Amino acid sequence: MTSTPTFPAGFRWGVSTSAYQVEGAAGTDGRGPSVWDTFAHQTGRIVDDSTGDVACDHYHRYAEDVALMAGLGVSAYRFSVAWPRIQPPGSGPASPRGLDFYDRLTDALLTRGIDPVATLYHWDLPQPLEDTGGWLNRDTAHRFAEYADLVAARLGDRVRLWITLNEPFVHMSFGYGLGTHAPGRQLLFDAVPVAHHQLLGHGLAVAALRARTTSPVALTNNYSPVRVLGDTDADRAAGAAYDALHNRLFTDPVLGLGYPPDLEPGPEVVRDGDLTTIATPIDVLGVNYYNPTGVHAPEEGSPLPFAQADLDGYPRTAFDWPVVPDGLRELLVGLRDRYGDALPPIEITESGCAYDDEPDADGRVHDPERIAYLDGHLRAVRAAIDEGVDVRGYFVWSLLDNWEWAEGFTKRFGLVHVDVDTQARTPKSSYAWYRDLIARSREGGPRAPGLDGGPRAFGFGGGG
Ligand code: FCB
Repeated sequence: MTSTPTFPAGFRWGVSTSAYQVEGAAGTDGRGPSVWDTFAHQTGRIVDDSTGDVACDHYHRYAEDVALMAGLGVSAYRFSVAWPRIQPPGSGPASPRGLDFYDRLTDALLTRGIDPVATLYHWDLPQPLEDTGGWLNRDTAHRFAEYADLVAARLGDRVRLWITLNEPFVHMSFGYGLGTHAPGRQLLFDAVPVAHHQLLGHGLAVAALRARTTSPVALTNNYSPVRVLGDTDADRAAGAAYDALHNRLFTDPVLGLGYPPDLEPGPEVVRDGDLTTIATPIDVLGVNYYNPTGVHAPEEGSPLPFAQADLDGYPRTAFDWPVVPDGLRELLVGLRDRYGDALPPIEITESGCAYDDEPDADGRVHDPERIAYLDGHLRAVRAAIDEGVDVRGYFVWSLLDNWEWAEGFTKRFGLVHVDVDTQARTPKSSYAWYRDLIARSREGGPRAPGLDGGPRAFGFGGGG
């Protein structure tokens, strides 16, 4: 394989995980239940009937996992804080034991020269808040800001980048629209208030974080370039409707453009001043990308204004997602073209793939498909930078094979193989590949003219 292109000095190399997917220790040190504990324990919700009760036991094995990160040479670790560890009832004072874990983790990272990047909410709402309506209840936005304040009061001096929410579109649509994720509601478009309350919570949390820290603050969205299948006006209208829902609903209001037409939640949900709060400036936009979406006009009588269809002609991952590296370039350039000067610098906060990786007879785990996947997607990032998009970092999803939501343990996304029974960690060949890529990038090597040493709005340790 030809060598992967080089990146600007200071480019941030990272790996990502999230609390419920890796921590385990579900009942330890006073942690309360989240919507995902409830959901995973319901029969038939998770394909292999597993739960995140133990997951990768990262709560107890974080030191070993930080050592794996140090071996990779990453400059950043994106983890999420479990709200039910910090406020088991969903409100009230912080649990010191819950905060202590993230304190230990943060210090372990800094000792190794790895920037802690903390996501405050990766879908694990405290169950008591779901019992009062969850994100359908406006009050949850205020609870979220209080929680953000409690976490920042403890970690605000050490976390290098804060992310408020992870993928509010996926949380709304799968969790409240379709019911395939926790909390399992099937409200279709009646879930739109969940968008507003998450966005309001985000804006209030940005303000809370600003009061506690000078580190940059971000929102992470999932983006999926839309491929219109079909050439009728109805197909194109369906494509625009899907694009607004997936790619614009959680970005337009944050960047000050208000809601896309047809997705405005309505005056009974949106109060005076909310749009100003939601548009509180952010420093970084977190971009998660996995694949584009094929869309065409819906069948007559469909409750949705679009229909989705497979994109043919691409290799596919074990998740059956099409592998389309150029979709990442397309979406990055598209964000720049759509938002112009309103677009803050971007970090790719998730990019990765699932394959059925298993150890061979020698105990080694070879995952050439993942290497090809990451190589292709990094080339796409490089191409976007060459087209003038300000991309500052790339985080592989994921460090570890972990608990993949409704897919349980059946989808392996890690650079490191995890044996679910023994918790043994085995770095895959992609781990060595990523390590070598980061090392080459640190050594210097040829750089693209004009990209080295440019002005940075904020300093990041580690890379480059
Ligand atoms: C993203 C999620 C992440 C993981 C990957 C595969 O949508 O943010 O937790 O499940 O997909």
